[in-house]
Amino acid sequence: MNNIQVHPDVPKLVANFKVEDTSLGFGKYYSPIMITAKYSKGQWGKFSLEPYAPIPLDPCAKVLHYAQEIFEGMKTFKKKNGDLVMFRPEMNARRFNMSARRMAMPEVPEQLYLDACEAICAYSKSIVPGKNGESLYLRPFMIATEAGLGIKPATEFMFIIIASPSGGYFSGESVKVYVERKDIRCAPGGMGYAKTGGNYAASLNSYKKTLDIGCDQTMWLDALEHKYIEEMSGMNFFAIINGALHTPTLTDTILDGITRKSIIDLARLEGLEVFERKLAVDEVLDLVTKGQCTEAFMCGTAAVIAPVKSFLDKGKIFELPIIADGGISMKLRQKLIDIQCGNHPAPEGWLYPVKNHQ
Ligand code: COI
Repeated sequence: MNNIQVHPDVPKLVANFKVEDTSLGFGKYYSPIMITAKYSKGQWGKFSLEPYAPIPLDPCAKVLHYAQEIFEGMKTFKKKNGDLVMFRPEMNARRFNMSARRMAMPEVPEQLYLDACEAICAYSKSIVPGKNGESLYLRPFMIATEAGLGIKPATEFMFIIIASPSGGYFSGESVKVYVERKDIRCAPGGMGYAKTGGNYAASLNSYKKTLDIGCDQTMWLDALEHKYIEEMSGMNFFAIINGALHTPTLTDTILDGITRKSIIDLARLEGLEVFERKLAVDEVLDLVTKGQCTEAFMCGTAAVIAPVKSFLDKGKIFELPIIADGGISMKLRQKLIDIQCGNHPAPEGWLYPVKNHQ
């Protein structure tokens, strides 16, 4: 953390920060401090922890016109003894740099990325919530700040981390899924696997349709055949079929979710079978009708696990059975949250302790 410069107002700003609201929700409140660093002439400048403030941007900044931008979503938890732990942050650091390569942006050295995350958490310690599933949600991102309307990779960038004391992404209700048969989110060879704003922007028109017809989330199918399940805009997908977990195999059109990976590891540790395979939407819907697909869920850093209530496809509703104790999905959800909050032993290397700042 010593390589992060700290503005003298940081401790005072955090000490004065209060959230009166009893329901934190997701991404509604922000720590009053943020990390910033500038990249130019082929290198990163100083990483500093500063007061949260608007960013000065030239109206010609390439991010505003050509969307050269990437981000991450990560969580830091407060254990019962007050210690903070980040959940698998090295995986986010690696994915961030993978997204950077796809978007012709500079990589952030992994240790510097981790130190910057640790610094904003350490200095935000007093405002990290500690109830079941609550966390400090970190949003590291990078934007192309170079001014100019020519379409070419920028040479100047800004790296920022903001942090949000957050509760659940969903209110706890299970989710109604709309199967998108026409639009696509991305195509092979595109940037679907990168965590870049454009992929989320591409989902919004269909998301509007999803909401208009009374559903909550859009399910994306593959671009070539419009047949195989890919992901849900901001989350990965799992179906539970005859007691086993089935999830689409990762391709360059699917985000490699860290929660997805953790669920696969956890399910296998629990003795459940997990299949990563091509998953046709018609097959899943048919198995729902036959009562063999008993549960389905979406997962991501923000949402953890959100169970699916029903699918709407071509005007027909496919309801999943209501399971009184929430079934396998809710057991996995609680196990993951217990691990993240330090209430259950974590597999080796999953929790990254946040040292106190000096
Ligand atoms: C996350 O889960 O962290 C994401 O980036 C997805 C977004 C829906 C919040």
